Formats: sequence, structure tokens, C-alpha cells
Amino acid sequence: MSNSRPGSHIELHNNADKDYARQYSQDFVSRWDELIDWDKRSAGEGTFFTELLFSVGACSVLDVSTGSGFHAVQLRKAGFRVCANDGSQTMVDRAKINFARHKLNIPITCCDWLDLDPRKLGTFDAVLCLGSSLCHVFDEDERIAVLRRFHSLLRPSGVLVVDQRNFQAILEGNFRSSGRYYYCGTTARVTLGEVSESLCEFVYSFSDDETYRLRVAPIRPQQLRREISRAQFRGVKSFGDFKPMYDPMHSDFIIHVAHR
Ligand SMILES: C[S@@+](CC[C@H](N)C(=O)[O-])C[C@H]1O[C@@H](n2cnc3c(N)ncnc32)[C@H](O)[C@@H]1O
Repeated sequence: MSNSRPGSHIELHNNADKDYARQYSQDFVSRWDELIDWDKRSAGEGTFFTELLFSVGACSVLDVSTGSGFHAVQLRKAGFRVCANDGSQTMVDRAKINFARHKLNIPITCCDWLDLDPRKLGTFDAVLCLGSSLCHVFDEDERIAVLRRFHSLLRPSGVLVVDQRNFQAILEGNFRSSGRYYYCGTTARVTLGEVSESLCEFVYSFSDDETYRLRVAPIRPQQLRREISRAQFRGVKSFGDFKPMYDPMHSDFIIHVAHR
């Protein structure tokens, strides 16, 4: 199914929105760590990802949308063998600075997901796509192609972890950004701009009046679960704000876990 049927209400996004790398300008990326606040984000997540990965016996992890490298650093410090990737060169440059700051030697590539090649990178016990990154892909068929590519980067029985903003709640007028989990910084506010069935715009306003916008596809959690299954993954389980039992209208982020 395509999102670009002529005359349909789902044409509101445009090609500029699909250019995710353009949305991560030098200025915005230079403030990404201020936006997420590594210490608070780490406290909010607790040991969720490390316990999950230990529980499935994972040793090697590919962080496909590393951004400024937050999870790559946490997981490397926890003892996993980590490779990082992001399609935005500005994010990759920022992640390299953070890896050096933490004195960690983490290999990193700058590659669009559809160009990630298991023959070059090898295969992994876990592929992580965090920070609601997959919602940068507007077209359903393309998302499934991306998920299949992630599948090809996993060893047999390897685990995929994909998270997303809770667009079910957002589309039903129940947006909240508690500031407890992903965007924890106190110098920025996250609010909504344009919202429709085909587009969701997040506005990040900093206390010095700088404002940045991210425009993404508002994929409902049930929809993404279906797409993960269609990409041949098994046994999709979902968590709301890191809890297995959660209120679907009062969770900021939904995390999906599935096996190859
Ligand atoms: C919202 S940021 C999340 C970054 C990081 N995971 C975090 O949680 O802080 C989304 C990231 O996904 C990356 N991304 C989006 N679409 C991509 C694609 N098709 N290929 C590679 N990276 C992509 C962007 O460049 C961006 O760094």
C-alpha cells in the first residue's frame, strides 16, 4: 500500500519530509544530547535493554539508528560487542565525538538502512532501531523492505528491537511527553505541530527560543506490529514505557521485540 494516492488526505507529507538526513541539521544535532539528557534517559530506561539482550543470550548488537550514540555507548559499557550506524552524517559525526569522550572504540557506518549489507557488516544477535526512528519512513512497503533488511542482518533466532512514539494516543488527542524516558532535557519542550493520519510534526523548542521540527509518519503501534510480522519476524511482543503491562493511551513510547 502506498501513502501517496492522488487526491487522498494522506498526501500531506512531501518529499522533503522523506529526506530524514536533511531534518537533522548541524544546529539541531549539536543540541541533540541537550534534548535527550543522557543521565536522565539512562535512569528512565533502567536496565530494560541490557536485561532484554542478556535474556536472549545476545553478544553482538547492531544499533542501526544510533543518532548521537546513546545506546551504542550504554551497551558497549555493559559488555556487548556493538556496531553503530546512522544515515545522517551529522549524527555520525556527533556519535564519534561521544564515543571518543567515553574512550570507546565503537565501529560506526553512515548508511541508509536499505544499503546495510550483511555481506559487509556480518550478522548480529540483535538489531536495535530506537528513538522512533522507523517513523521516518512514510511508505508502508518501504518500511517492510527496511524491516526485511534488518531481518537479513540477524543471525538465526536473533532479536529485533524497534520502538516508536505512541501514535495511537497522539492521533486520538492524547499526546504527552512526560520527559521521563527519551527526551529528558530540561532546556527544551516537545510539542506537536501539524498532525494528521499521514504526518506528525514534533516541535522542539529550546529555552533560548531556538526551534527545530521533525516530521514523521504517525504509524500506530498495531500497524507496526503487523508490518514486523509481515517482514517474517516471529512472536512480536510489545512494551509500553518499558513495562509489559501498560495503558495504551498513557504511554509515551511503545517498544516492539521480535525474533528472526
Ligand atoms: C529520532 S533520531 C533517534 C536517534 C537515537 N536512536 C536516539 O534515540 O537518540 C532518528 C535517527 O534515525 C536516523 N534515520 C532515519 N531514517 C534512516 C534511514 N533510512 N537510514 C539510516 N538512518 C536513518 C536519523 O538519521 C536519526 O539519527
